[in-house]
Amino acid sequence: MERKDFLKKALTLGGLAIIPAGLMTGCSKQNSSAPVNVDFTLDLTQPTNAVLNSVNGYLVINGVIIIRSSTSTFNVYSAACTHAGCTVYYDPATTNIICPCHTGTFSSVTGGVLTGLPPTPLTRYTATLAGANLTVKS
Ligand code: FES
Repeated sequence: MERKDFLKKALTLGGLAIIPAGLMTGCSKQNSSAPVNVDFTLDLTQPTNAVLNSVNGYLVINGVIIIRSSTSTFNVYSAACTHAGCTVYYDPATTNIICPCHTGTFSSVTGGVLTGLPPTPLTRYTATLAGANLTVKS
């Protein structure tokens, strides 16, 4: 084997060795189960939660997605897509919840499946605002 062939082969093998494990898994199934025994409170005066002070603001935290739909309404669902477990996000333009993996869409009002591969709706949680504290529960 000539030197340039050896280097080419070594770089190829070395290059493969540094590919992050996450990229090697492709579209493998993630955890699509909804969180259970959810019970936490967010202080909306804290900068990390301040996005929820605006209508159409949303936050993914503790395995759920919290969407402020109006001044008095918060819709909370499992953040794990029911198809293969990818973390969903909220699209204010369409007011739908979107899965980035295979573009499944869910209603932000009901959590129901609108389009795509998800087989079941997102699990819903309750949200109660008391002053600046938002409590989320199963
Ligand atoms: S993981 Fe496939 S549509 Fe969400």
